[in-house]
Amino acid sequence: MGGDQEEWILMATARSPTNIAVIKYWGKRDETLILPVNDSVSVTLDPDHLSATTTVAVSPRFSSDRMWLNGKEISLSGGRFQSCLREIRSRAEEVEDEKKGIRIRKEDWGRLHVHIASYNNFPTAAGLASSAAGFACLVFSLSKLMNVKEELGPLSAIARQGSGSACRSLYGGFVKWQMGNAPDGSDSIAVQLTSESHWDDLVIVIAVVSSRQKETSSTTGMRETVETSALLQYRTKVVVPSRILQMEEAIRSRDFETFAKLTCADSNQFHAVCLDTSPPIFYMNDTSHRHDYQSCRKMEPF
Ligand code: ADE
Repeated sequence: MGGDQEEWILMATARSPTNIAVIKYWGKRDETLILPVNDSVSVTLDPDHLSATTTVAVSPRFSSDRMWLNGKEISLSGGRFQSCLREIRSRAEEVEDEKKGIRIRKEDWGRLHVHIASYNNFPTAAGLASSAAGFACLVFSLSKLMNVKEELGPLSAIARQGSGSACRSLYGGFVKWQMGNAPDGSDSIAVQLTSESHWDDLVIVIAVVSSRQKETSSTTGMRETVETSALLQYRTKVVVPSRILQMEEAIRSRDFETFAKLTCADSNQFHAVCLDTSPPIFYMNDTSHRHDYQSCRKMEPF
């Protein structure tokens, strides 16, 4: 390490959008590694609209890892943050900034601490996948700071350990999260199906029916669904595998009618497995019921 009296600070900033699943992820087969019970497909939103912006900083003056979310300090002691930090640190490479006179050798990273400041430009924990944008952004910005050489695929497997759907936010356009088979989760990664320009006249309207925090967190909800819902078994074994193929074809051919039908059917089945959970989970309110009924019946191309 170098620099004047160790006074230096090095920073990296990134912005990541959230993503909305059109074939839903609901249920984990491994809670620590965050391995899902089915493949999922999503569309990544425009970062100008719903995104997290994260700055990560390293300095020899920092005595512990710390994080601020929307200006308020939060604990990093949870396993998910620790997994992401550990996985990125273990891949950190030498960094040299000649102008600032800084040289961080590979072996220095284990002793250096980071400070993280992240802001979401939309409601946090209200069902809009803030943690997907947040963990994608955290992993990406840390990988830049620490000069990690991994491709987006392996980085997505790290973001997945922060929040499952975060793996899909590393790519734009339509993205598939392959559930994978490997016990260590190395093949449970995101792959881009099409770039953001493939279907650029597709417009996504997000209608916020409530900005209150969800009553049941996704983690608790998924656990209870996996433990109690018989419908989830049918969904993961029979429905999702064929729906994924149909969805991939609808996206490839920009077939809006099929795309909309599959999206509505999958959203409804997700709510159905929540209802099939004991005790049942309700993520829809009266407003969403009214709008869901109308939009799923009348969905037409603009
Ligand atoms: N959870 C929700 N928003 C987040 C963010 N921006 N960074 C990390 N975790 C989050």
